[in-house]
Amino acid sequence: MKKKILCICGSLREGSINQKLIDEVSVHLQDVLDLVELKIDKNIPMLDPSSVTTMDLRQIYNMKKSVMDADGVLISTPEYNGSIPGGFKNIIDWISYKLPDEKEARSFYKKKVAIMSASSGVLRGVRAVMHMQNVMMHLKASICHETLSVQFTENAPLPYDIISKFAYTIKDFFNSTDYGI
Ligand SMILES: Cc1cc2nc3c(=O)[nH]c(=O)nc-3n(C[C@H](O)[C@H](O)[C@H](O)COP(=O)(O)O)c2cc1C
Repeated sequence: MKKKILCICGSLREGSINQKLIDEVSVHLQDVLDLVELKIDKNIPMLDPSSVTTMDLRQIYNMKKSVMDADGVLISTPEYNGSIPGGFKNIIDWISYKLPDEKEARSFYKKKVAIMSASSGVLRGVRAVMHMQNVMMHLKASICHETLSVQFTENAPLPYDIISKFAYTIKDFFNSTDYGI
């Protein structure tokens, strides 16, 4: 049976280059992996632990379930001010937060996670990748040693060679029984 991989784009922007990157990587993976996307709702509030008990948490449970049900997660995040976007960090915080009726919060625990970034900047989003690695390490995810940072803009052609090479690497990572970092 094909492994189920949840793809998460850290950008809400219409025409997002990170979404384009996920779409292009997916072209190479779809025959061997079952790819599903996590659609992030823009209206999810900032996590305020003191308000959790009075909130409608259905969307948060759904997001958590999507992660828990997946064999692996493929993330592509933009770089904002040398890090990951604050709104995206908030989503990761929600997914990893222990909700009132949960015994423990282990959404990303031992979950296979591969990280990419597409950026218009010359540093190609490497700092966003590093910060996301730190977050995932903290959550005890099993992180792919290889990452992908690419520079392109909305109307420029994608670096197809680099993308197909990375797709090949993560195909192995998601299908292997070894853990990453
Ligand atoms: C608030 C903000 C801060 C940004 N900071 C950086 C940065 O530190 N480094 C960088 O390479 N690009 C930075 N950018 C540019 C983004 O990488 C670029 O907009 C990219 O297209 C975002 O990805 P997306 O198309 O998937 O939304 C920033 C953009 C915004 C809106």
